Amino acid sequence: MSRILLGVAGGIAAYKACLLLRRFAEAGHAVTVVPTPSALEFVGETTWAALSGRPVHTQVWADAHAVPHVALGRAAELVVVAPATADLLARAASGRADDLLTNVLLTATCPVLMAPAMHTEMWLHPATQANVATLRARGVVVLDPDSGRLTGADTGPGRLPEPSEIEQVALSLLDPSVVAAARDRDLAGVRVTVSAGGTREALDPVRYLGNASSGRMGMALARAALLRGAEVRVVAGAVTATVPGGAELVEVVSTADLAEAMAEAATTSDVLIMAAAPADFTPATPSAGKLKKQGDAGLTVTFAQTTDVLAGLVRQRRPGQVIVGFAAETAGSASELMELGRAKLARKGCDLLVLNDVSGGAVFGAADNTVAIIDADGVVGTVAGDKNLVSHGVLDAVATSRKSNR
Ligand code: CTP
Repeated sequence: MSRILLGVAGGIAAYKACLLLRRFAEAGHAVTVVPTPSALEFVGETTWAALSGRPVHTQVWADAHAVPHVALGRAAELVVVAPATADLLARAASGRADDLLTNVLLTATCPVLMAPAMHTEMWLHPATQANVATLRARGVVVLDPDSGRLTGADTGPGRLPEPSEIEQVALSLLDPSVVAAARDRDLAGVRVTVSAGGTREALDPVRYLGNASSGRMGMALARAALLRGAEVRVVAGAVTATVPGGAELVEVVSTADLAEAMAEAATTSDVLIMAAAPADFTPATPSAGKLKKQGDAGLTVTFAQTTDVLAGLVRQRRPGQVIVGFAAETAGSASELMELGRAKLARKGCDLLVLNDVSGGAVFGAADNTVAIIDADGVVGTVAGDKNLVSHGVLDAVATSRKSNR
């Protein structure tokens, strides 16, 4: 349970902050809401109070004996401002303290996350961009807005990221190592391609061979890379996890499609991460028509081996490119797991291998994970926890590998 202060500025996306608040509260966090006077034009105090289960603070002048303009910021373990409007960003960047929320921003010493939302022109305006750069230089973590439908008929960058996305980034910032990485933006300008999810191999026009991969690991890696400033492309097979806004999405179906999309991405990527679970087999002769019942004889299908996507990427590796593979193994012991990992790293030829123990059906679809990250010299890191945390551990190893590759 953490003490989160949710600041809400005056934009129509304030209604989405209600969903964010609900998610934080359901996850067991104590959330204090500080809406600006303009935010209250969109969503009233009663809604914030009911959803947070706590008093809502709206002005500097109320409860002066408790000195709220200082106490609230000091007490918070994390401040999240969603939506952060152009005006809020401008006031925060210039250090104004003309309402309770900007006072909080001046007194909070904990990590601060801002999720901007505004019309595209306002977001792209040099004044807003300069304010964002100022805030980032001061250590505020400012998300890039999503692209898509805005309030009116217009579309473009400026949408508030989905509440589930803001929640995941926000909660990852409760870990100091993630705050440091997000502040450094150590992958700024680095082109990262991540594959995610399972592939589907057609048996006939309506049936396929698939697997239980959710795509959560790949999406967490994409989210973490975006937070660290990377340009991210996600090559996604079948996934149930949502794609983080800000990532370019390429959708694929089969392992052959995935191989083609990754080979194409490889020509312009600095980092390639194979977090997908491609099918290793594909029906040798898929039926053009829907297969009929076969009676007692049943159906015998011959499967052909699919291409090894990772091995193909290694063969066409560009100088300086870092290639990361994943290995899900069922091992009897930690030493056996490490042996399997070393052998696979050598066989695949990738720079880093993220090693999972899936004995007992762990990992697929789960939020938490424990991994060892290995290179040719041995273990370079172990991370336990939520897939967002594991992703930052993997990207730490990627950043180190990029430095030694130069
Ligand atoms: N992979 C791939 N192409 C495939 C299968 C797997 O690129 N056709 C990638 C996965 O995305 C992962 C890595 O290879 O990054 C290891 O996957 P895994 O299934 O453990 O490897 P396999 O080569 O299939 O090894 P095994 O012989 O243990 O099945």
